[in-house]
Amino acid sequence: MVVFDEVPLAGACMSSNPTNHIVFFDTTLRDGEQSPGCSMTTQEKLTMAHALEDLGVDIIEAGFAMASEGDFAAISTITQAIRKPRIASLARAKTEDIEMAARALQFADRARIHVFLASSDLHLEYKLKIDRQEALDRTGESVRLARSLADDVEFSPEDATRSDRDFLVEMVRVAVEAGATTINMPDTVGYSTPEEYGQMFREVRDRIPAIDAQGIVLSSHCHDDLGLAAANSLAAIQNGARQVECTINGIGERAGNASLEEIAAALYVRSDRYKVTSSIKLDKLYPTSEVLGQIITFKPSPNKAIVGANAFAHESGIHQHGMLANPLCYEIMTPALVGVSRTHLVLGKHSGRAALRHRLEQLGFSLDREELQQVYYRFVALADRKKNIYDQDLIGLLPDPIRERRNMPVAQLD
Ligand code: KIV
Ligand code: ZN
Repeated sequence: MVVFDEVPLAGACMSSNPTNHIVFFDTTLRDGEQSPGCSMTTQEKLTMAHALEDLGVDIIEAGFAMASEGDFAAISTITQAIRKPRIASLARAKTEDIEMAARALQFADRARIHVFLASSDLHLEYKLKIDRQEALDRTGESVRLARSLADDVEFSPEDATRSDRDFLVEMVRVAVEAGATTINMPDTVGYSTPEEYGQMFREVRDRIPAIDAQGIVLSSHCHDDLGLAAANSLAAIQNGARQVECTINGIGERAGNASLEEIAAALYVRSDRYKVTSSIKLDKLYPTSEVLGQIITFKPSPNKAIVGANAFAHESGIHQHGMLANPLCYEIMTPALVGVSRTHLVLGKHSGRAALRHRLEQLGFSLDREELQQVYYRFVALADRKKNIYDQDLIGLLPDPIRERRNMPVAQLD
């Protein structure tokens, strides 16, 4: 039997303020890695785990120990190199899975076994071919077994949002009585809406008083099939969830998981509504996204919130003019807040004179009004033909006399 340290899980995860601290459970290396093109070697997972530790996540789900030798090795390697976050392994509600997870986690300072079993009739009937009673029995047995191997056990009723509500409550009650310290209620297929998902948390809390009485942490786990994963996670928080499961860049099965950077930024920017704290270092969000992009060799889509290439880019003349006057006109957070080096004013056919002048000044060219007007006409004509306008293109538009006086302030022009 693997012996784990004696950290009381709920207390450890909820930090000094159990009522408002949000535990960030990152599953980039497990659920994220399950998405096409995102598989990682042990070395790559380790690199990512270091980045997640620097980012300040509380828990890293490092893999699914039973899934493959590679996953087992990655979990074991990460437990030996990463000290601050707790390390979790996923396990089906099966003896061999749970024992394998415990073996993979044996070197962790702080370990979590994450057991899951479907709760929806659809999954029970067609996927597992077991009835509800057997599902309840397996829940109790597997959580008890996991608790005999680890102090910290999370239980997830898979497909919780499409489950009969009374049965879901029953399954959660069995898991709580068997000793689960975190209850995670996944929206496995991204079907739920914010009102509905939040209501589910409220109802489960209300109907199982032991959850609050024993300090059991409720957790959200959302997928983005309807583009609602971050909104649903926030709704769960508003209804008592104190752990969010998420991934960097929102990678994950199908349309992905709830994106860590969106949730963390929303909690901060809208702290007027979400009065909670977290350990996430916001200025590490973009650098962490970049580390992942380099490992899996693809970046998030350009319009992805917080970390997409265009998240802080402005092209239209009206927006650029507003940005130059006061960035608050069109930005709800500074790029620096999330670790992006600067706002990018993209020069394209929608740009105006203000942005053109600004960029030319950055390049060392000061133009008077008339010159700017001339260059602006040329610029618009070029932008109509060319998608990307680079600095060299701009310099190419300047008449020779202007080019020759680079770095001369406008005041010295005659
Ligand atoms: O989406 C899901 O239901 C999961 C569980 C295994 C937690 O990833
Ligand atoms: Zn999932």
